[in-house]
Amino acid sequence: MRESGRHLCVVGVQWGDEGKGKIVDVLAADFDVVVRYQGGANAGHTVKIGAKQYVFHLIPSGIVQDGKHCVIGNGVVIDPEALIAELDDLKRGGLHREESISISDRAHVVLPYHRVLDAVREKSSGSGRIGTTLRGIGPCYTDKASRCGIRMADLIDRERFARLLRANLEVKNRELAALYGEKPLEYEPILRDYSAFAERLRPRVRDISKLLIDEEARGARILFEGAQGSLLDVDLGTYPFVTSSNTSFLGLGAGTGFSPRKIGRVLGITKAYSTRVGEGPFVTELLEETGEYLRRTGGEYGATTGRPRRCGWLDLAAVRYAIAFGDVDALVITKLDVLDGLSEIRVSVGYQQGGKAVEAFPPHFQPPPEPVYRTLPGWKQPTSGCRKLSDLPMETVDYLQFIADGCGCPIAMVSVGQERDAMIRLDRPIAPRERSGK
Ligand code: GDP
Ligand code: IMO
Ligand code: MG
Repeated sequence: MRESGRHLCVVGVQWGDEGKGKIVDVLAADFDVVVRYQGGANAGHTVKIGAKQYVFHLIPSGIVQDGKHCVIGNGVVIDPEALIAELDDLKRGGLHREESISISDRAHVVLPYHRVLDAVREKSSGSGRIGTTLRGIGPCYTDKASRCGIRMADLIDRERFARLLRANLEVKNRELAALYGEKPLEYEPILRDYSAFAERLRPRVRDISKLLIDEEARGARILFEGAQGSLLDVDLGTYPFVTSSNTSFLGLGAGTGFSPRKIGRVLGITKAYSTRVGEGPFVTELLEETGEYLRRTGGEYGATTGRPRRCGWLDLAAVRYAIAFGDVDALVITKLDVLDGLSEIRVSVGYQQGGKAVEAFPPHFQPPPEPVYRTLPGWKQPTSGCRKLSDLPMETVDYLQFIADGCGCPIAMVSVGQERDAMIRLDRPIAPRERSGK
């Protein structure tokens, strides 16, 4: 049944910033509806069209393509101020698409106290800090799980919102004062500002589960856009250095009210190397010149926070793990062009500890395992003009084959530049041969 499903889910299989925005924009041409199902304004998804560059935090990246219905599911945590800023930005860029957007009435709302709590918790954690985006994501999901959160349906009901805000703010102010010595936040300005946000967003708020089920019934094709990366998943990622949502395909059902059994294919996006922003284990991190080369050549600075991204070689143990639990059908390799200038490329095919192979992806990284590297020749030629597999140098094709083999997963597409057309779509995917590597 899976194979025949017409819906597609796109997820990152590393630590985020794999190029999901670009791939969703490209693929959206063949879909009617594009849906975000988790995360919040911690995401930064870049779409570059000629001289214009859009960075989406909450709006699905499918919005740039004309005529797509863009949906924000119940699993997303919505900062209304950030969402409105994004809508205004779109308008300034000439895209009048507000009416193409639908927002779940069950999505939780990020409030100013979530952002403040995110900041003070990080500050007081010292060396245990996570390096969050400070967008209030963790505290908002905490309230959701604690069953005291405020949802979009509450925000657009003035009386309910006033009551829930008062009750929540009282508790948060006590926490801020007692644990962090912070000044209390004032009730009235928040009520005023968020009531105004509610007026703007009210026409967009609806039952998203019903909407998607109805779209399915009328034959629409639906594209689901993951945010963050599978290894930042709160359950299966490199905990505690993760975000607070289920970032893989597995988060889709709970985050939309649409059955994941109806999804046809899951595409996993991975860069041709690795990056990570914030703290946490990164076995293949390069702290020397090559890391700096990848950062500079790949423009590896956070789309949301501007922080320099940590860079390193591709980590096949990590990607294999994400493919397995996230039920990924095929890979999309992005940023292949960033490796063009290197004479040698290393890939970690697994981990070892004290000379012994580490078989399973570890639940923590203490003591840190070491990568087991294979070294492949570089190609030292530009690939960004290539549009078919036969345009690529032989060494580049060998590199892609090595990845497919090492992951046991076919490669369906390769991205060789920021622009929409900088893509190699493989009619026949690069299929894995018998597993090489370890
Ligand atoms: P996302 O969060 O997964 O959507 O990824 P980001 O937008 O945060 O980061 C990916 C960055 O790489 C963006 O600046 C993209 O424009 C850029 N990008 C995407 N694909 C390619 C590619 O194939 N080559 C190059 N050079 N840049 C790419
Ligand atoms: P996109 O969708 C990369 C990281 C943060 C931090 C950890 C927790 O653009 O791929 P949070 O603010 O979520 O509580 O931070 O997760 N992080 C991301 N890293 N890309 C993202 O999103 C990220 N969203 C969160 O840097 O390490
Ligand atoms: Mg990003």
